[in-house]
Amino acid sequence: MPGELSPIDKAKFVAAKRACDYVEDGMRVGLGTGSTAAWLVRCLGEMVREEGLKIRGVPTSTRTAELAREVGIEVISLDEAKWLDVTIDGADEFDADLNLIKGGGGALLQEKIVATASDQMVVIADVGKEVGQLGAFPLPVEVIPFGWQTTRALVEETLISMDVLGRDVSLRMNGEVPFVTDEGNHILDLHLNRIGNARQLAMVLNQMPGVVENGLFIDICDAVIIGYGDGRVEVR
Ligand code: 5RP
Repeated sequence: MPGELSPIDKAKFVAAKRACDYVEDGMRVGLGTGSTAAWLVRCLGEMVREEGLKIRGVPTSTRTAELAREVGIEVISLDEAKWLDVTIDGADEFDADLNLIKGGGGALLQEKIVATASDQMVVIADVGKEVGQLGAFPLPVEVIPFGWQTTRALVEETLISMDVLGRDVSLRMNGEVPFVTDEGNHILDLHLNRIGNARQLAMVLNQMPGVVENGLFIDICDAVIIGYGDGRVEVR
């Protein structure tokens, strides 16, 4: 365990450490994005350098690609890998059915493509990410820059017609300018409070022109490893 960690970092670290058990020699591994996934990449890098673990990693963002290379993991593209044995990633929220909200770090598009191209998706999260119902965390929706305000208006109208509780939709910013994803798109954050029918909302959002992908991961995650601040780990 790295030096003195805050309870939240300890929770993230122990979840990431346990997730390494899902990784075996020769595997093609999807590498998530975010602070929890960064712990995983560091742990796997240590196994590569010190135990001779042989894996090829497919990162889900430029940030993760840089870190993976830095710690000694061989990085390949998804098209080179074609299919992955396992993807391990963080989440912003997970519920009892292991459905997720992701995209707090703005990498949801690559994350969903990579997770969907994997035999198994394992989520690593501190216990604070567990919710009874998805939606307290703003739902990220990746939209193309062209006509983004029109797309936002369409999203707002749709939320009204679906009788969704919260309807505030904000453009994610990076200081004074709109946040730009690795794919050159923008993110709309949907402040919904509670999502009644996540499956329906995910489908409706993805049917809109201008929407590239949404941060609802429905029936994609196979297991969640929950880390606690006291070092305990639980697998769901
Ligand atoms: C990035 C993500 C992250 O996995 C999610 O935001 C969780 O991040 P963290 O582990 O830093 O809490 O979806 O797009």
